[in-house]
Amino acid sequence: MEAIQIAIDGPAGAGKSTIAKELAYRLDYTYIDTGAMYRALTYAVLKENVKIDDIPQILEVTRNTEMSFKKGNIFINDILVNNEVRSIVVSQNVSYIARIPEIREILVDIQRRIASNQNVVMDGRDIGTKVLPDAKLKIFLTASVEERANRRYSELILKGLDVNLNDIKEEIITRDKMDEERSCSPLKAADDSIKIDTTDKTVEEVIRQIIFLLNERI
Ligand code: C5P
Repeated sequence: MEAIQIAIDGPAGAGKSTIAKELAYRLDYTYIDTGAMYRALTYAVLKENVKIDDIPQILEVTRNTEMSFKKGNIFINDILVNNEVRSIVVSQNVSYIARIPEIREILVDIQRRIASNQNVVMDGRDIGTKVLPDAKLKIFLTASVEERANRRYSELILKGLDVNLNDIKEEIITRDKMDEERSCSPLKAADDSIKIDTTDKTVEEVIRQIIFLLNERI
């Protein structure tokens, strides 16, 4: 049976991971958080004190880093790093790592392999445009920058992190700009994607809308 792929893209904090995770759970599909892969690599690079523009060294760290994703947990060389990869310092640096074409090539290859033989909900920035161009359903989630910053803030506060709302808003704006302006696979809605503005919608409303759209296609 052909594997069904659902691509969910959008800017930082638009609700992609919350929606994608819940959708995967309800459909019994595998959830793949591609942002976590770029974040895990960024964490490993920073931990090795490698400069963010030293591409040969970054590639060396990539080759020596074993990342694994089990049941929503992220491990680097078998060490649990769920909270570390969500830190502000990783958020501030991840777009520098994500704009390196060689890094994208390695991660896109892994993402495609995971999606080739099972039903998946995959979220990121280039899933509909690059990673899974033939996905059965492509969703592009958006929300106002204020709403996105508020959501990220509440999420991090709940995790017990000491954060500032304005810093988060600035970080989101800067990161989106870098992600949109990079030359390799920029953040962009696929032409055949369906855009959903989640600003005034509940998670339940968005999930229902996506399941309705999926049912029209399968
Ligand atoms: O989704 P999340 O906010 O965790 O992604 C972190 C960063 O990883 C993004 O800002 C972007 O720079 C990068 N990313 C990417 N392509 C993806 C997923 C994430 O470039 N498919």
